[in-house]
Amino acid sequence: MSLRRPLFATTLGLVTFATAALADTDPAVEARQSQFKLFAHNLAVLGPMVQGQMEYDAEAAQTAADNLFHLTRHDQGRMWPEGTDNASIDGTRALPAIWEDLDDFAAKFGALQAAAENLQGVAGDGMDALRPAVGQLGGACAACHDDYRSER
Ligand code: HEC
Repeated sequence: MSLRRPLFATTLGLVTFATAALADTDPAVEARQSQFKLFAHNLAVLGPMVQGQMEYDAEAAQTAADNLFHLTRHDQGRMWPEGTDNASIDGTRALPAIWEDLDDFAAKFGALQAAAENLQGVAGDGMDALRPAVGQLGGACAACHDDYRSER
C-alpha cells in the first residue's frame, strides 16, 4: 500500500494535465483527426503489401478494407463546423478553402467512399486485384489533401 499511494497520485496528476491540454482543442477537430488516424492505421497494412514490403495476406487485407469501408461511412456532418479552419484556430491543418467550396470537398470525400467500396470488394482476391484498388484509394486521399490540407 505504501508503494501504491504515490503511484496513484502521479496518475491523477497526469490525467489532470491531459484534460487541461485537450480543453483548447475543438471536439470536432479532435474527432476528424482521429478518424484520419484510423484511415492511416488501416492503410498501414495495405500500403506495404502493394509495395512488396509485406507478404500478401488475404485475410489481413480484407480486414483492413472492411475497416476502411465502414470508417468512410461515418457521417461527416458534425466534423466540419465553420470556424475550424487553420486561419481561425490553432491545432488544425484544415484550409479555409474547404468552406469556400463545400460541394467539391464533399465530392472528394465521395470519391474516397467509392474507392473504399471498390477496395472492399476485391481485397481478398489477390495482389493483382489489390494493387489498383489501393492505388485508387490512395489517390482519393491525396486529391483532397492537395487542395484542402495545409503542409505541416
Ligand atoms: C475529403 C478530404 C479528405 C480525404 C478524402 C482524406 N483526407 Fe486526410 N485530411 C483532410 C484534412 C482537411 C485534414 C486536416 C484535418 C485537421 O487537421 O483538422 C486531414 C488530415 C489527415 C491526417 C492527419 C490527422 C492528424 O493526426 O491530425 C491523416 C493521417 C490523414 N488525413 C490521412 C488520410 C488518409 C489515409 C486518407 C485516405 C484513406 C485521407 N486522409 C483522406 C482531408 C481529407
